[in-house]
Amino acid sequence: QEVVCPEAVDRIRGIISTLPIENGWRFIEPLCLYQGFWCHPSLTERIMLGEEFFKAEPNDIFVCSPPKSGTTWIKALTFAIVTRTCFDGSTSPLLLKMPHECVPALHRIFGKKPDIREPGLPLIATHSPYASLPKSVLNSDCKIVYICRDPKDAFISLFHFKAKLRPQEIEPISLEAAFDLYCEGKSDFGPFWDHILGYWRTSLERPGKILFLKYEDMMKDTTFYVKKLSEFMGYPFSLEEEKEGVVQKIVELCSFEFMSNLEVNKNGMLFGIRNHQVRNKNFFRKGKVGDWRNHLTPEMAERLDKIIEQKLAASGFGR
Ligand code: A3P
Repeated sequence: QEVVCPEAVDRIRGIISTLPIENGWRFIEPLCLYQGFWCHPSLTERIMLGEEFFKAEPNDIFVCSPPKSGTTWIKALTFAIVTRTCFDGSTSPLLLKMPHECVPALHRIFGKKPDIREPGLPLIATHSPYASLPKSVLNSDCKIVYICRDPKDAFISLFHFKAKLRPQEIEPISLEAAFDLYCEGKSDFGPFWDHILGYWRTSLERPGKILFLKYEDMMKDTTFYVKKLSEFMGYPFSLEEEKEGVVQKIVELCSFEFMSNLEVNKNGMLFGIRNHQVRNKNFFRKGKVGDWRNHLTPEMAERLDKIIEQKLAASGFGR
């Protein structure tokens, strides 16, 4: 694959080789600490390229999230909302392509073309923390949709996801050891509290810039949040559309039950870290709120709740 700028890649790789490394997750790649967050080196490289080469446009809409917090769902919903006049329930690309293929990720920038946008689609997704978004995203009028999730469920989801992706020759990590790392902030795009706080604080300061969503709220009343999302993104539903049940159709199209049963999401494949193949079905596990209860001891839950309380409550988050 041709790169944006080979000199920049060499320079960036040089910087990455000096970063602190954490190999406790025993994964395809270790995590490295860049700008205060942990990330796989190959992905960090793309994030740094994005910082340098990506130029935001005012109409761009960024879809941001910590990993395992509803990224697949929010990508499907935002895609279905902004493309609803081009496709209907029977022609939507979401029926044949996994949401990660429908909404381009910022780290696609590695390819020669610095413009990673899909023609006619304003959406771009990333797991980058707020402070590490390209400066042009922070300084322009483009909007940001952010989704996060109860860190206890996000951790359980991450643990299972990594377990499925880990090559057989690498010995798995125990739930307890992974939990310790997560609580220390050493997880993909972690510390999770800094990720949430970066977007949360800005959403309070600039409510027109960031729509801050929680997975649990959206599960409770998806219809309400689909309307909220569409208004925020500048694609409000008309009264006629509401009467015709367009909102409900989008909710159903993007629901866990429907999406996880599509052929592409049951049997399709994606390329992940270092081109390791990832089964699409790994992005659809249970899709439930509170699955942590089946995996964490009360002591573990209490430990994580304390961290959430200490790190996030002071900012008004969760009230
Ligand atoms: P679980 O592992 O708890 O089931 P991400 O998309 O950020 O990688 O997050 C994955 C989590 O979102 C997984 O959670 C997955 O099952 C859930 N998920 C995927 N698609 C969903 C959908 N359409 N609706 C609700 N949850 C969904």
